[in-house]
Parts: sequence; C-alpha cells; structure tokens
Amino acid sequence: MDEVKIRPYEVKDKEALTDICKETAWESYKKDPQKLATVPINFLDYFLEYEPSHVLVATNSHDQAVGYIECTTSYSRFVKTTKAVFFPRLEAVDPSQIAFEKDFLLALHFIRRWPAHLHINLTAEYQHQGLGTKLIDALIEKLKKEGFTRLAICGVERGSASYGFYRHYGFTEIWVYSPKLVSLGIRFKGEKS
Ligand SMILES: CC(C)(COP(=O)(O)OP(=O)(O)OC[C@H]1O[C@@H](n2cnc3c(N)ncnc32)[C@H](O)[C@@H]1OP(=O)(O)O)[C@@H](O)C(=O)NCCC(=O)NCCS
Repeated sequence: MDEVKIRPYEVKDKEALTDICKETAWESYKKDPQKLATVPINFLDYFLEYEPSHVLVATNSHDQAVGYIECTTSYSRFVKTTKAVFFPRLEAVDPSQIAFEKDFLLALHFIRRWPAHLHINLTAEYQHQGLGTKLIDALIEKLKKEGFTRLAICGVERGSASYGFYRHYGFTEIWVYSPKLVSLGIRFKGEKS
C-alpha cells in the first residue's frame, strides 16, 4: 500500500467518495441502478453538503480519496434536513427508498442522546490495513476538541464484518432493535455522564 494520509474533505473529493459509497453498498442495491443511485443520497450527500467539516478523507500518494469517515453532530438538524431536502431527492430517483430512510430516522430517534452518528467506507484495495481504525481515531480527536463526548453508528447487523470491526475498536451495543440489528456507541475518555 502506498503512503496514505488522512485530511479534511475537499469539494474535489466528491466524485471519488460517491464511487466508494456505491462500491460498498449492499449487493442487492448494486444489482439495481435506480436503487444504487439512492445510496449516496441516503448516506453521503447530507454530510458533504451540510456538515463537510465532519468529513475526513483517506488519500493515496496521488491525493486521491480511497476512503472516508463522516458524522453529523446534530440529530435534529439531520432529521429536519433529511425530510426537507433529501426526501424530495429520493422521490425523484426512487420513491420506494423514502420508506427505508424513514425507518433509518426512526432508528436514530431511539439513540437521539447520541447526536453524532457516523458512516465509514474504504475502497476494497485499502481495507484491512488499519485505515478504518485511523479514520475513527482522527474523527474522535476532532470531536473531542469540539467538546463532544460520544459517537454512535446506527443500525449494524450483529455478526457482520463491520460489527466485528466496531466491537474490536471498543464500541458497545447501545440499542437493540431486533435480535439481529443494533446500534453501537463509544464514549470518549473523560466523559462524566
Ligand atoms: C469496516 C471498515 C471501515 C473497517 O476498516 P479496515 O481498515 O478494513 O479495518 P482495520 O484494518 O482498521 O481493522 C482494525 C482492527 O479490527 C479488526 N477487525 C476487523 N474486522 C473484524 C471482525 N469482523 N471481527 C473482529 N475484528 C475485526 C481487525 O482485525 C483489526 O485488528 P488489529 O488492529 O488487532 O489487527 C472497512 O473494512 C470497510 O470500509 N468495509 C466495507 C464497508 C463497510 O462495511 N463499512 C461500514 C458500514 S457499517
């Protein structure tokens, strides 16, 4: 692997991040171009457009993005903006996916005391080399400086590879939706509550 750096998101990264977002989508979505087009609308565009300062990018030696981590720091802003801006975008591409996003917002409601929720994705060639850990480290450092004390990931399947990765990092289960589906969270050192 060439030298990988972590830096703040820049507008020029958008296309690469969109590609990675689609590459790491569920297989069933990859088989359906219309559904696949909704994945960045649901999982990327809010963060790039409304909270770009909370998007960190892993780049190769050519300064091309090979992965990213993103989080929102306001549950209420995320919900309001999703309904006002991103539901209409979904409507235009594949209205069936609005129901999916409504379920996601409901899942977030149960963990609303954890205002910062993340998404993380690396292109296949750069997975399993410690980069995911570095991206979470970097995001937590940034959130700590801003006064945040906890970080969550909403809706992870127990037993999945990503569940193993988060648990190994130190995330614990903070909400159980079903025997299979949970949300995970991590409290940063020094948190009192
Ligand atoms: C999930 C993902 C972000 C993890 O990043 P990564 O760079 O591949 O993971 P790392 O190399 O940093 O792994 C860190 C540690 O977690 C451990 N780990 C990873 N998967 C694990 C699993 N399933 N069970 C237990 N431990 C696991 C690794 O062994 C490693 O431990 P070590 O440091 O002691 O060797 C990355 O693989 C990815 O983007 N996958 C595809 C998209 C995805 O699933 N995104 C998350 C959606 S919720």
